[in-house]
Amino acid sequence: MMENPQEIIVNGNLLVHLDETDSTNRFIKELKTDKKYRMVVVASSFQTAGRGQGCNRWESEQGKNITFSILIHPDAILPHVQFVISMAISLAIKESLNGYFDDVSIKWPNDIYYKDKKICGILIENNLSGCVIKDSILGIGINVNQRKFVSDAPNPVSMFQILGKETDKEEVLNEVIRHFDYYLDKMNHGDFMEIRQQYLTSLYRKDGFFGYCDDNGFFEARIHTVEDDGHLILTDSDNKSRKYAFKEVRFIV
Ligand code: BTN
Repeated sequence: MMENPQEIIVNGNLLVHLDETDSTNRFIKELKTDKKYRMVVVASSFQTAGRGQGCNRWESEQGKNITFSILIHPDAILPHVQFVISMAISLAIKESLNGYFDDVSIKWPNDIYYKDKKICGILIENNLSGCVIKDSILGIGINVNQRKFVSDAPNPVSMFQILGKETDKEEVLNEVIRHFDYYLDKMNHGDFMEIRQQYLTSLYRKDGFFGYCDDNGFFEARIHTVEDDGHLILTDSDNKSRKYAFKEVRFIV
């Protein structure tokens, strides 16, 4: 595997660039880094076995997109509110992409959408020690300059397809780090209120009735809220409340 790590330190963060690895989440997990860094960021031009949620692979053409992982050691996040990390990184990416175009939203729990298409996926792996989160690895794939998608990934879209021109990948990566830095500060101060409010107002299909599917089949509902622990609360067309954990309900897009 041609890793060829190049390291730089910027604003107290360690940034590592690789030419190629299997998965940046796997790489960062095995990297022995000093806890003094606020964030460790590992970005790779190519992943040979990029991992998506569940058993999925993450499609990303060589050199075209940004695939990276961020390692943080949150100060005071208890396991029952670990979803705040997911909200914070989703917001940071949404705000970064809003620097390029509108119509970006967060599809619960943490897919980033442009209109009805997925532009970015996030894979979070938290490592608990006792009753706090010791390390959190945020794996992020943003579709930047890829022109065509060949896997069976549902409804992908790239910045190239939206803007009709190439975007500087490093600039996008730096923007995500800059925005995430802001939310990391909030998290470390236990200040979850703003993150939660911003997250709720950024949700995909936050207003109105849409189709969903759970184990019992299709139904129509609107989003009522997302609880602190990440459960999605829907209100269906019979005004009945329905509560879901990740993967228990599917949006019909
Ligand atoms: C999803 O299925 O939506 C999550 C995709 C996450 C992909 C990123 S790419 C960088 C990091 N390394 C991985 O192997 N996966 C994540």
